Amino acid sequence: MIQAQQAFLRDAMRRLNLTREAFAERIGSRKRALDAWLLPDESAEFRAMPEVVRRFVAEILSRELGASMSTQSVHGAAPQADWPGTVHLLSVSQFNRDAVEALFALADVMQPIARRRKVTRVLEGAVLGNLFFEASTRTRVSFGAAFCRLGGAVCDTTGFTFSSMAKGESIYDTSRVISGYVDVLVVRHPEQGAVAEFARATHIPVINGGDGPGEHPTQALLDLYTLQREFSRIGKLVDGAHIALVGDLKYGRTVHSLVKLLALYRGLKISLIAPPALALPAELVALAASAGHVIEQTSALREGVRGADVVYATRIQKERFGTDETLDGHGADFEVNPAVLAATGKPDTVVMHPLPRDSRPGSFDLSVDLNTDARLAIFRQTDNGVPVRMALFAQMLGVDALVQRSMRDATWRSPAQVGVDDALLADEA
Ligand code: NCD
Repeated sequence: MIQAQQAFLRDAMRRLNLTREAFAERIGSRKRALDAWLLPDESAEFRAMPEVVRRFVAEILSRELGASMSTQSVHGAAPQADWPGTVHLLSVSQFNRDAVEALFALADVMQPIARRRKVTRVLEGAVLGNLFFEASTRTRVSFGAAFCRLGGAVCDTTGFTFSSMAKGESIYDTSRVISGYVDVLVVRHPEQGAVAEFARATHIPVINGGDGPGEHPTQALLDLYTLQREFSRIGKLVDGAHIALVGDLKYGRTVHSLVKLLALYRGLKISLIAPPALALPAELVALAASAGHVIEQTSALREGVRGADVVYATRIQKERFGTDETLDGHGADFEVNPAVLAATGKPDTVVMHPLPRDSRPGSFDLSVDLNTDARLAIFRQTDNGVPVRMALFAQMLGVDALVQRSMRDATWRSPAQVGVDDALLADEA
């Protein structure tokens, strides 16, 4: 089965590590033609790529990456990946760069399903157990939606109050019991390491949906996927980018996982912007530095964002503070807003946030004044949670090779853009 045009071209650019401009030049096409080939096929500007171009791209891939693909890629010698092939997904440390990019290629294949243009039933009969012992909206629902869009069904439980853990049941017992009912478990828990404890008690795949201040691997994967897609549109590569991480870097688990993933890339400048009391844990700073990245630590937001290609803001995780911890050092000068964005000095800075953003007065989280700014990628980020999680499920349950040929057209009608301000980036590809 021939891979869909958009997914095929994206995969090629990623594997060759080329911007759109450089790729167009490499294949002898005009950039405008490439842009049209990269649009979703329901777009009015979409153009079919000539077969001769597809063959030429395939030939470049096999010549440049072919023979050495199993051990080495264009990114250099790959450290051993633990993904796919392991039962559980607990940390992004299970991924090397090739594994990340293979996942993203599969997420691209899932896009038409996530956008409700196509349907598949490859997980028909399978059941997902969503066990969320901590607040969640998008993570829980997007895992559920991803599983449903692959044809599976979902059972949810939320909070301790309505679970038998309130009666003193252990993680071991809970994990074993639920494993008798479902095929995959997604677990979120307030204690670091608790999701790994669930995993040790079962042979059913367990996915870490956030373990206290530990990790949030699927969020970081969708963040990086979004970042790559945004960069692809504006002609940048992750390698060499300047990324500013802002806010609660101490307790923000999405940042912890993201920094580990960024350590797989080359030549980054990472600005860590936080009050001293909420600085990134030292071992993560050391990890990023050992990858050869330039690390800048500051509590002055405007200084840190200057020249940034990405500003990734986060919420202050007050619920994780110890009794002696205060918000000292955090205030209005940490708010990412239009004036701060102007201070980066770049017109195309990508603004991200794992969400939820705290929109209450005095929280100084990402400003709502950016809502109609096309650089605000937060809802493209949340949308991308579905195809990335679909790709993870497909890999874990061994149906990845079935998806492409199982796709049919969706039968119901849905709007081209789901959000009222989505038209701002109608050329999104
Ligand atoms: C984050 C989380 O739960 O770690 N949210 C999410 O899953 N997207 C961030 C947060 O709670 O601030």
